[in-house]
Amino acid sequence: MNADQAGVPDRRPPKTVPERQLTDYRPLLDGSPAMRAIRTVIDNIADTDATVLIRGESGVGKDLVARALHAASARREGPFVKVNCAAIPPGLLESELFGHEKGAFTGAHRRKPGQFEYAHQGTIYLDEIAELPLALQAKLLHVLQDFRFSRVGGHGSIDVDTHVIAATNRDLEHAMARGEFREDLYYRLNVVEIRIPPLRERREEIPLLASSFLSRFNAQYGRQKRLSPETMARLTEHSWSGNVRELENVIRRMVVLPDGEEAFEALVARHRNGKGTAPRPAQLGSESLKEIARRGAREAERKALEEVLERVQWNRAEASRMLRVSYKTLLNKISECELSPPSRRPF
Ligand SMILES: Nc1ncnc2c1ncn2[C@@H]1O[C@H](COP(=O)(O)OP(=O)(O)OP(=O)(O)O)[C@@H](O)[C@H]1O
Ligand SMILES: [Mg+2]
Repeated sequence: MNADQAGVPDRRPPKTVPERQLTDYRPLLDGSPAMRAIRTVIDNIADTDATVLIRGESGVGKDLVARALHAASARREGPFVKVNCAAIPPGLLESELFGHEKGAFTGAHRRKPGQFEYAHQGTIYLDEIAELPLALQAKLLHVLQDFRFSRVGGHGSIDVDTHVIAATNRDLEHAMARGEFREDLYYRLNVVEIRIPPLRERREEIPLLASSFLSRFNAQYGRQKRLSPETMARLTEHSWSGNVRELENVIRRMVVLPDGEEAFEALVARHRNGKGTAPRPAQLGSESLKEIARRGAREAERKALEEVLERVQWNRAEASRMLRVSYKTLLNKISECELSPPSRRPF
């Protein structure tokens, strides 16, 4: 990396050993034809620096595939830097990505390198890329042309050698149609697209995943929990709207809680009952169409809230992000809908 007037970039301490040991992802990508096809794509592009866009619902394994790509590449000894574009306030994102010079803005007391600099000779993983504000999308597009940029408030240019992987669970075509995502950036990122199917479309993986989570959590929590064939059948049939993450959490709960299996049964029952129940007028003729619509919307909102909170184990910050409402709005909605977390949660 050359950094002229901008100065020599700071460096992070070397990555810790355990992180480096997590290099063999191959067995995790072997459970279904869909994942094996993704593994083949990873093998085929491992020695190129083609930008990759990973798509798929929340919890399908996008982070895992990004790490597998890094581990398969010649950059595997270099850093793997993840930036979650949705987790950083939009006003701070430019400085987070590209760094800033001392005095660049109020509070910039000293020079700070950005994540792109930290990712030198490694991989930068831009998660939730659809949340990048439009102005920053333009800057990123420029950076991707020649891998050269300036820190915020800086004049000198910095060259960086990094492999870019982006990911999203949003419908980027829809975002482009609404003018929220730049088409040119989409094409620049989408050199190679990896679409990870939802877990319900690769059910053959469920027994394997469930067994491996079971062994892991048994070892972690010092338990000897077993899964009955009935439970395994139910796990395989379930719709898993939260994908592998939800399965992982359900198994963790089964291992940790004495009534973990019942909690899963209750989840299955709720799904069964909730499926296809369109809001129906309480008493036909007693409500106006407007009132019926309002009630329907309220019920749909309550159901969505309940499902998302359940999926993220009542992590309200994550739920507000997934539902794209502010944290405060989410808390108000929770109280309006009179929802409360289950009383016993070990995590
Ligand atoms: N094939 C797999 N084998 C084992 N664990 C997996 C597999 N796929 C995903 N997981 C686990 O499931 C969880 C969710 O995966 P990951 O974080 O990669 O999903 P994601 O698609 O990035 O989700 P989000 O969109 O919410 O960021 C993680 O704990 C991950 O380790
Ligand atoms: Mg992710």
